[in-house]
Amino acid sequence: MTDSLTVRDNRTGQEYDVPIADGTIKAADLGKIKAGDDQPGLAVYDPGFVNTASCRSSVTFIDGDEGILEYRGYPIEQLAEGSNFLEVAYLLNHGALPTKAEFDAWEHEITYHTFVHENIKTFMEGFRYDAHPMGMLMASVGALSTFYPDARDIHDAENRHMQIVRMIAKMPTLGAWSFRHAQGKPFVYPDNELSYTANFLSMLFKMSEKTFEPDPRLVKALDVLFILHADHEQNASTNAVRSVGSTQVDPYSAVASGVGALYGPLHGGANEAVLRMLRRIGSKENIPSFIEGVKNGNEKLMGFGHRVYKNYDPRARIIKKAADDVFEVTGVNPLLEIALELEKIALEDEYFVKRKLYPNVDFYSGLIYEAFQFPPEMFTVLFAIGRTPGWLAQWLELVQDKEQKIARPKQIYTGARRLDFVPASERWA
Ligand code: COA
Repeated sequence: MTDSLTVRDNRTGQEYDVPIADGTIKAADLGKIKAGDDQPGLAVYDPGFVNTASCRSSVTFIDGDEGILEYRGYPIEQLAEGSNFLEVAYLLNHGALPTKAEFDAWEHEITYHTFVHENIKTFMEGFRYDAHPMGMLMASVGALSTFYPDARDIHDAENRHMQIVRMIAKMPTLGAWSFRHAQGKPFVYPDNELSYTANFLSMLFKMSEKTFEPDPRLVKALDVLFILHADHEQNASTNAVRSVGSTQVDPYSAVASGVGALYGPLHGGANEAVLRMLRRIGSKENIPSFIEGVKNGNEKLMGFGHRVYKNYDPRARIIKKAADDVFEVTGVNPLLEIALELEKIALEDEYFVKRKLYPNVDFYSGLIYEAFQFPPEMFTVLFAIGRTPGWLAQWLELVQDKEQKIARPKQIYTGARRLDFVPASERWA
């Protein structure tokens, strides 16, 4: 067996040998195929990069058919069970689990960079009272680049580390302040005595109490949700971070573009749609007619199906368990009953089985966020905080990858050519 592809160009009758490596061919090799010496080389048309590998990566592995997700080789189930978000952030960005000393140093560094410059506070106060928190987060992360101009030196390893620490540390502060702004409540400064996730809850919900003491079960559940969202290989927002990062801009600007991509309803907004759907269904009795409507193509069962997973999304299983823990503290969200029944019916129904439609990460996450009393606009902010270590790990990999170039796709031009320009004075005469 030869690891190559023989391509016959029927325009010229010429044959080409294209090497296959890692299950891929190089698009540049196809560029050597030409209809004539003066003709452009063959290119690949792939809107949405559905079948195009844009990089080599050792950060996250997904097998969608088997429902497997691993960070740096460690199964997500084991990390959710036994690790914590800061350790996972270390793992993603360093490629290996920390020793005790490494973890302590990492935790210390992150904890002591949670504060932001006072001018960021003034900047955030300038937003309209009803500003969407994702818009505020995107702008304030981008604004950090002006506070740390040293971040432009992306070729220095120590400098890169500093920005990674700063960003993981400050995201919860910016996210919580976006929330408080919408509520018209004063911003709460970080409490460095608390854990990463407990401190985030404190900045969100603390009022006049001296120290905010969140229920440890809620802290654990939110920490697990952060772990589940920490990376998902080349998804739309990570691709945005890599694409912008490929210009060698500072990482704050690159991550701000990731936040922008996540803001879009096709990426970060499905859990909110699930809640709307559950509310509309209203009660268990209405499920059969709803399912009929889905099967007739009237609408989609939100929170089901995934571009990559053609099996149970491994994150959905873990979230279901976290939901039980949260509801133990907050009381059961009445929509849960409908969700459980929907899942049961759908998993047995031929329409969903045949199309390999299973619950995805968003099916239960909205229910949990609602139990925390987050308004829907905050759901994506939580996602962004969780995804930050993943964006940074991918950015770090990108800037050290000798094979990477500035991201600059080709196009198939469909417009006019060689028109003669007539000045306005003549056209309008
Ligand atoms: N409910 C009902 N039918 C669905 C469905 C859903 N949630 N998701 C996919 N299908 C059907 C499609 O109609 C299609 O049926 P057909 O073959 O009869 O035309 C088939 O399943 C394949 O779907 P397709 O749209 O090709 O899959 P995709 O990979 O392009 O889309 C999603 C993936 C996630 C966009 C899609 O499953 C979806 O819209 N899900 C609901 C939204 C959601 O939960 N998004 C969060 C993702 S994390």
